[in-house]
Amino acid sequence: MTIRNGHNAMLPYLGKLVTVQDMAPEIKLFGIELLNVGSAQFADYQPGQFAFVSAFGVGEAPFGIASTPERGNVLEFAVQRLGAVTTEMHELGEGDIVGVRGPMGNWFPMEDFKGHDLVVLGGGIGGAPLRPVLQTVLDHRADYGHLNILWAARNPSLLLFREEYDTWRAAPDTELHLTVDEADGEWEHDLGLITDLLEKVAPAPKNTIAITCGPPIMIYYASKVLQKLGFEPKQCYATLEARMHCGIGKCGRCNMGEKLVCVDGPVFSIAEAGRFLESYL
Ligand SMILES: Cc1cc2nc3c(=O)[nH]c(=O)nc-3n(C[C@H](O)[C@H](O)[C@H](O)COP(=O)(O)OP(=O)(O)OC[C@H]3O[C@@H](n4cnc5c(N)ncnc54)[C@H](O)[C@@H]3O)c2cc1C
Ligand code: FES
Repeated sequence: MTIRNGHNAMLPYLGKLVTVQDMAPEIKLFGIELLNVGSAQFADYQPGQFAFVSAFGVGEAPFGIASTPERGNVLEFAVQRLGAVTTEMHELGEGDIVGVRGPMGNWFPMEDFKGHDLVVLGGGIGGAPLRPVLQTVLDHRADYGHLNILWAARNPSLLLFREEYDTWRAAPDTELHLTVDEADGEWEHDLGLITDLLEKVAPAPKNTIAITCGPPIMIYYASKVLQKLGFEPKQCYATLEARMHCGIGKCGRCNMGEKLVCVDGPVFSIAEAGRFLESYL
């Protein structure tokens, strides 16, 4: 048994769904207020960490935390309906009770990023764990340099956090670039892959940190473009997904070479993750 802060790390805390919002087809944003001791355990989680959410009687699955504790005590998760757990979660509504285990994994070293320009690349549901990075930069805008957000999805309806784009754009020294694979008639932004957009925007590598989250193939090709632009692997970070079971480094299910994504990650620099990414392809 692994005890963390006096609690068996395999046992979920109880949480109440306080908001359930449709974000995109098959994607909902869940806001969870933790009950009892759970809220204290999640008092200072960090951008990039994840948690397991359980739908009782069905099972649990890991999700990147899409909120920051600085903005309140509601934990948010953007969940795409895919299999048993996520389908059951999509059936739940406000007031229903779920289980939450965590916070788990490492996080983006936001302190080390201070004073640097940032390029943040989010693709599809992979944008969700990057929202706390954006919120942290926007809430402490003077601590960070230029912020370039490159945001992508298969089509416009699948773009995450659309209602926040005006706030992102209005922040000082901040750019938002959108692209989709397939556009409709009203689309006014870029068309094509996020890697094409990255080549077009061509951020300068000097004093810049690049952060990517999305499907492994996107992370792999984005890191290739970043290197072509002059970024070194240690300037590029990604958050990776792997099949997980325990989430606490015990079962070995999430191993990538000698690393366990659940405890050594999910945040890796490309200097660390580059060769593992090739094994994903
Ligand atoms: C650190 C981390 C963060 C994540 N963050 C999010 C998030 O913010 N939002 C979100 O919607 N999902 C996220 N996921 C993915 C989510 O955990 C899986 O989709 C989960 O399996 C869904 O559970 P399920 O029971 O609904 O589907 P399952 O029945 O488990 O799976 C449905 C299908 O997806 C495949 N699958 C499951 N897990 C993975 C995986 N890791 N990689 C590739 N294929 C897989 C299965 O083989 C199956 O075909 C994250 C995963 C990890 C490890
Ligand atoms: S999920 Fe069990 S070791 Fe990572």
